[in-house]
Amino acid sequence: MGQIEQRIREIADRARSLQAGDLYFYLQPVEAVDGAHVTIGGRTMLHASSTSYLGLMRHRAIDAAAQAALEHYGTGTHGVRLLAGNTDLHDRLEARVAAFAGRQAAVAYSSGYLANFAAISALIGRGDVVLCDKLNHASIVDGCLLSGARFVRVPHNDIPAIDQALAKVPAGTSALVVVDAVFSMDGDVIDLPALADVCRRRGAWLMVDESHSLGVLGPGGRGIESHFGLAGVIQVKMSSLSKSVPSAGGYIAGSADLVSYLKHASRAFVFSVAMPPASAAASLATLDVIDAEPDRVARLQAHVRRLRAGLRAGGVPVRDDPTPIVPVIAGDDDTTLRMARFMFDRGIFALPILSPAVPPRTSRLRITVTAAHTEQEVDTIAGAVASAWREVIPALAEG
Ligand SMILES: Cc1ncc(COP(=O)(O)O)c(C=O)c1O
Repeated sequence: MGQIEQRIREIADRARSLQAGDLYFYLQPVEAVDGAHVTIGGRTMLHASSTSYLGLMRHRAIDAAAQAALEHYGTGTHGVRLLAGNTDLHDRLEARVAAFAGRQAAVAYSSGYLANFAAISALIGRGDVVLCDKLNHASIVDGCLLSGARFVRVPHNDIPAIDQALAKVPAGTSALVVVDAVFSMDGDVIDLPALADVCRRRGAWLMVDESHSLGVLGPGGRGIESHFGLAGVIQVKMSSLSKSVPSAGGYIAGSADLVSYLKHASRAFVFSVAMPPASAAASLATLDVIDAEPDRVARLQAHVRRLRAGLRAGGVPVRDDPTPIVPVIAGDDDTTLRMARFMFDRGIFALPILSPAVPPRTSRLRITVTAAHTEQEVDTIAGAVASAWREVIPALAEG
């Protein structure tokens, strides 16, 4: 068997064997979802892995804005932004994102993956150095690889290691440091004050992915800089528009010149279709809703504390991070899948995250809460995870 056939066979066989054991949780045919609940196979369950952190899916004003855009512009733009696909809605979204992010300008891409991939590969190239946290999102890693720059993976959230790596960069060589603000599988927060200081001292550019901090951290959900009481320390601010913002897309915010450069030189902007107008309208309306309904951020932050305290009280080891992403690390894939099955059978949808999405032997349930959950629902999720932790793990050890 050739390499290609072997690769295909391995993955297809694994999927088949999980399906046969009723342990396949991917590609669920979702019939309805509102952030706190999801309907699958006619059964409405509590959603314990949603990234709609502010509970804004199906928000009336956001849906109405998307519908009006659909009515006015139709479904697509039949083109790339640079040529014929730009609308006033895209321009208004970018101005609103820039104001929200506290930057001069912003550029929108049709996904967060593309925003990272496009910006990183446009900013650096052969002869440069890029430092990438070991637990950064795949879209950051792919952008670094595509760039052709010397790719240095640094230990997770280890700012002294970044300092040492930057100290070795030869004078005259450009360096870019890229990190997640909140790490998507672990829910911990980058040490921005220390990192910003190192980058400033070493003359490196700093890019931060705010996909899981927008709407989550800081007063008004403004993100990582406001969480730490810092302003303007990040040169390249990125976020997906598919988490707290219930849309599809991504952006880079920064100086006017940076944004102009990306609009003319980043290949995913120049050669790929514009974000659909309805998605742009939904994103634009969402930023207004986040500002108009600040209680949502406060409710989310209270739920985060409640979930983590509830899990700890139930004997589940969790850290005290201020984010709604709580990894419940079971270790191996099989235990994780059985915990997901335990939850599913009790009407709770909790996503298992397996290696290689996370490092080997750290497979986990990725539990999240949103502002749309009630306190009682947060308690139900914490209680079910604690039961799964107590019942599934000892049962496997005995079995
Ligand atoms: C940290 C991070 N960055 C980027 C992305 C990609 O965003 P999108 O889903 O909009 O392509 C994700 C989404 O999974 C993410 O978690």
